[in-house]
Amino acid sequence: LFRPMTDPFGRTIRYLRVSVTDRCDLRCFYCMSEDMTFLPKADLLTLEELDRLCSAFVAKGVRKVRLTGGEPLVRRNVMGLVRSLSRHLSTGALDELTLTTNGSQLARFAQELADCGVRRVNVSLDTLDPVKFRAITRWGDIDKVLGGIEAARSAGLAVKINAVALKNMNEDEVPALMEWAHGKGMGLTLIEVMPMGDIGEGRIDQYVPLSLLRARLEKHYTLTDLADDTGGPARYVRVAETGGKLGFITPMTHNFCESCNRVRITCTGTLHTCLGHEDASDLRRPLRASDDNDLLSAAIDRAIGLKPKGHDFIIDRRHNRPSVSRHMSVTGG
Ligand code: GTP
Ligand code: 5AD
Ligand code: SF4
Repeated sequence: LFRPMTDPFGRTIRYLRVSVTDRCDLRCFYCMSEDMTFLPKADLLTLEELDRLCSAFVAKGVRKVRLTGGEPLVRRNVMGLVRSLSRHLSTGALDELTLTTNGSQLARFAQELADCGVRRVNVSLDTLDPVKFRAITRWGDIDKVLGGIEAARSAGLAVKINAVALKNMNEDEVPALMEWAHGKGMGLTLIEVMPMGDIGEGRIDQYVPLSLLRARLEKHYTLTDLADDTGGPARYVRVAETGGKLGFITPMTHNFCESCNRVRITCTGTLHTCLGHEDASDLRRPLRASDDNDLLSAAIDRAIGLKPKGHDFIIDRRHNRPSVSRHMSVTGG
């Protein structure tokens, strides 16, 4: 008898986030230190193993799969994985196969993504100012990202822009980013910076609560709460003046763990049931132990049974230490 995965708090797991590589071609200062060390390539699951792992989750009731990284489009032959996972769209087992990307490689892959049944992508872009973009990403070229976004739109993909709110960096730019995104029919989602991983500096100088940015916006714009959502952590509003959608992801100021529907797996086959916890379960061993999925399925059930109630994120003003030692790039959020 089929029973969807449900955790001890009654939350059903329908959303799988898959980090296909911890590597990235950029080094956003809030995400990684400049001399970040990556996992040894020998530890990676093959794309065939990742496919088998994802498919096991689909068989257990996951309806939405999001590939992340690091930067998912720098994993060699990642399109092979997208193409093979797209069979679950064709059978109706999966509602959505999608991707969160920094956009730098999107121009190359947009059409193929669309051909595989991907309908929308989330692109991380924290600023429209080329100088600030370089300061944030350390060496990124904003024109590549803007070109990637246009290629995605031309291929018929819906694009949502993700921007991490950064104190003294892009906090004043929110209206401009929003006008730009909404002017092109794209949604914009703002994200509170989370204290994950040692990035060579504390978070105090980066963190700005979205409650503050929302209050500033409301002086000039009319925001109406929307009920509809994507099954992700954002809460959305409609902006009357632009007609566009604005999302808020607020792990620090407004916890959304109560309605959590997701878990994430890494490119080494580790399952993290909560972004804001050290908890981890190895799925690589049961995956490799046998060709049938019984051991794997039991390991997944055990891990889901230990999913924490919510995250432990705090901005540590005293010691400036991260709440969770692993970097965002290991799980893609
Ligand atoms: P949609 O499908 O468009 O709703 O996307 P999404 O928000 O689920 O995914 P995306 O990859 O765009 O994530 C945006 C941000 O949300 C990232 O910074 C993630 O780290 C963060 N995020 C996603 N899921 C969780 C979560 O369960 N907890 C926390 N604290 N943050 C999350
Ligand atoms: N806090 C919040 N968001 C982060 N991202 C990367 N690191 C952090 C962090 N520490 C964002 C990226 C991307 C998304 C997947 O997560 O900018 O938009
Ligand atoms: Fe779910 Fe953990 Fe994210 Fe909360 S922090 S929404 S429990 S994954």
